[in-house]
Amino acid sequence: MSDLAIIGGTGLTRLSGLEITRREVVHTPYGEPSGPVTHGRLLGHAVAFIPRHGSTHNIPPHRVNYRANLWALRHIGLTHVVAVAAVGGVTPAMEPCRVAIPDQVIDYTWARAHTFFEEDLEHVTHIDFTEPYCAELRARLIQAGASAGLDVIDKATYGATQGPRLESAAEIDRLERDGCDVVGMTGMPEAALARELGLCYASCAVVANWAPGRGDGTVITMDEISANLVSGMEKVKRLLEALVTS
Ligand code: HPA
Repeated sequence: MSDLAIIGGTGLTRLSGLEITRREVVHTPYGEPSGPVTHGRLLGHAVAFIPRHGSTHNIPPHRVNYRANLWALRHIGLTHVVAVAAVGGVTPAMEPCRVAIPDQVIDYTWARAHTFFEEDLEHVTHIDFTEPYCAELRARLIQAGASAGLDVIDKATYGATQGPRLESAAEIDRLERDGCDVVGMTGMPEAALARELGLCYASCAVVANWAPGRGDGTVITMDEISANLVSGMEKVKRLLEALVTS
């Protein structure tokens, strides 16, 4: 897969093991992406990488320029995008440090630039979003997880919240009633924008913490999230290595 891009989330501002060959600054009609696109080789295979929250992790979820990031990736010829995302675990299987490949999404975000189809239109366009993630890439991620010996959860409904605050316990109860398994702040509008651009996009969700009101109910700290993400992202690295060599 020589046309693969990885969008790194919280806990993945750099892709360790990536032998960097060059950095490419892309200007877009939608403003600046989160940073230059880093090109490199992972186990000898070409991969491009962009950190969603910037290389110093200073862009909060509601301020990420999702349109610019995806437009830049497509503009430079990438066709497949793996979006790595830290999430909270809502349902019992979604324990901290688990990795899940979501198959559905519910969007609770608001006031984000969420479409490319709003200006200079010849006609109104409605993309099909019945299956929000690319089936081919999801299957490859699940297969890569299995061949890396990881206990990857092969489906999950991702609830995308606005952030940057975490949710209240009642909000998480509502998300669970709606059918969400994990909750994160960046899954939308990213998935829909990727579909609008015709990119094959799938998400790799890493559980950083029990969602509010789940687990032992103690206060969620950034230290807890960071500690779990160290081990979760180690799994993601193994999964991505298996993906590129598959
Ligand atoms: N809620 C929303 N987003 C998150 C969480 C959470 O608990 N953990 C990591 N990203």
